Amino acid sequence: AQEVTFYEAVGGDEVFRRLVHRFYQGVAEDPLLRPLYPEEDLGPAEDRLRMFLIQYWGGPGTYSAQRGHPRLRMRHVPFKIGIAERDAWLRHMRTAVDELELPAELETALWRYLTMAAHSLINSPD
Ligand code: HEM
Repeated sequence: AQEVTFYEAVGGDEVFRRLVHRFYQGVAEDPLLRPLYPEEDLGPAEDRLRMFLIQYWGGPGTYSAQRGHPRLRMRHVPFKIGIAERDAWLRHMRTAVDELELPAELETALWRYLTMAAHSLINSPD
């Protein structure tokens, strides 16, 4: 059966590119989150998050081809993520999601996943 993936339904690469680019514009200005990112250039981090989300939602598997199994909890261990960091991450994501102006049911599915995923990566009490 031909099933339309979420990746295809939202409009493919371009939509993920806009989402993650807008998100990192927020991170770049955030005094709590910016210091967590080890590299001066946020471009490579932007590429990784975009490839991951594309893969997660049924698009090309470039993320795992380059990075292997996602193991997101393990990969976030080096960074202190408490409630405040989760909320800041989600605030920038919310702005980025809003600007996509997706159909309501796609937006709801995306937002539900992002909030759940962000919560699951908390690794440190405030
Ligand atoms: C990597 C912070 C939530 C997906 C990173 C990095 C930081 C970070 C500092 C390293 C940047 C890099 O060099 O790639 C945070 C914080 C979060 C959060 C503070 C707040 C809860 C999430 C969520 C997702 C995610 C919810 C997925 C939906 C990723 C991915 C990478 C990454 C895919 C790259 C992993 C790799 O291949 O090395 N994150 N993150 N993060 N994050 Fe997060």
